[in-house]
Amino acid sequence: MKVLVIGSGGREHALAWKLADSPHVDDLYVAPGNAGTEQVATNVPIKDTDIDGLLKFARDRKIDLTVVGTEDPLVMGLVDVFEKAGLKVFGPTAAAAQLEGDKAFAKELMQQYAIPTAESRTFSEYQAARQYIAARDVPLVVKATGLAKGKGVIVCNDPAGAIRAAEKIMVDRIFGDAGSAIVVEERLYGQEASILAFMDGQSIYPMEAAQDHKPIGDGDTGPNTGGMGAYSPTPIVDERLMQTVESQILVPVVHAMNRAGTPYKGVLYVGLMVTAGGPKVIEFNCRFGDPEAQAILVRLKSDLFEVMMATAESKLDQVTLKWDKRPAVCVVLASGGYPDKYETGKEITGLADAGSLPDTWVFHAGTKLDGKRVLTAGGRVLGVTALGKDIADAQQRAYFAADKIQFDKKYCRRDIASKALKQ
Ligand code: AMP
Ligand code: GLY
Repeated sequence: MKVLVIGSGGREHALAWKLADSPHVDDLYVAPGNAGTEQVATNVPIKDTDIDGLLKFARDRKIDLTVVGTEDPLVMGLVDVFEKAGLKVFGPTAAAAQLEGDKAFAKELMQQYAIPTAESRTFSEYQAARQYIAARDVPLVVKATGLAKGKGVIVCNDPAGAIRAAEKIMVDRIFGDAGSAIVVEERLYGQEASILAFMDGQSIYPMEAAQDHKPIGDGDTGPNTGGMGAYSPTPIVDERLMQTVESQILVPVVHAMNRAGTPYKGVLYVGLMVTAGGPKVIEFNCRFGDPEAQAILVRLKSDLFEVMMATAESKLDQVTLKWDKRPAVCVVLASGGYPDKYETGKEITGLADAGSLPDTWVFHAGTKLDGKRVLTAGGRVLGVTALGKDIADAQQRAYFAADKIQFDKKYCRRDIASKALKQ
């Protein structure tokens, strides 16, 4: 079979690495890919948002399954275009991807189906938002409704901060058109968890849970990033919580999307806050998490191609997922300065050393090849991932490998998975 993966991050390297392992997969392409995907697949220089270019490539090469890693092409309707052309794709249609692409849509759906989430209001006018916020005296979170690379959320302590946040998003447009409307919601307190599930329009198959680390600094300080590290499984999510998530969140989502005539197929990512009052949805994403995918996929023992094909063909009830019981920790190495300004083009050394350690994988994100050298090419550069006999062991192994890799202004959090050790 011929498979095309779309994207160029650590998540796509992990997806391609796992798909390359399947005996069904003869030819594997990644568009546009990075220096890491080049090791397990053939990179194709087509951007993830160039839907016409991707369609032409998939047709010419007779691709059997296209796996969309990133959210932008999903929200733009890549799946609709491919399916119309008779091509098989893993991922939701544009209408279904609104669960991520439009936070106002997601909030409305959750309110309508009584899915537990923070109380919220949506505004498309700054003055109305300002008036509403000024009249509230609880801590609020202000969110751009559109796509903003995981950074469109400002958590505030008081109304003055929330008004400034609304102004920055709606008036100054710091997230561009993603901020033409905002969701203002109550701030929730608790531990966060990411639950990802395969969904084929009827069946639901949750994966093992993970926890992300969004803020840039140790102890969850500083601005939010795309994610600085992850581990799986997480002790906050036990069997009972998983059942609650399935019955109170996943089942109603399947039902709601089917009733709207826009069945959800692909992977649904539920960002949860586990509050004293139970789990509440912070966000939906319409694709794998990055870096959650890295921590989850090194634990998956089943054939990822089979699961994805079954999902695309609505035969998810015929697969069983098997997991490595050992936990995994993924530490992201970033360019100093990220998530704000940072430099690229720095040579990376120590990759082979780190990657040859047992039960350790170095997934590339923002990297590119320059002859034989590997250079930094983005904010998040690498995701160093290790399995261990327990979380402490996996954490120690991941940092041992991460410390073997060097590049100018390399930065990483030193406390990925430490929260799990305190539990
Ligand atoms: P999102 O992109 O919606 O997942 O938000 C990014 C991050 O902001 C989340 O991972 C949380 O850490 C934080 N966040 C979002 N919504 C809330 C909320 N209602 N209460 C507290 N923190 C939140
Ligand atoms: N790690 C968070 C995300 O992928 O959105």
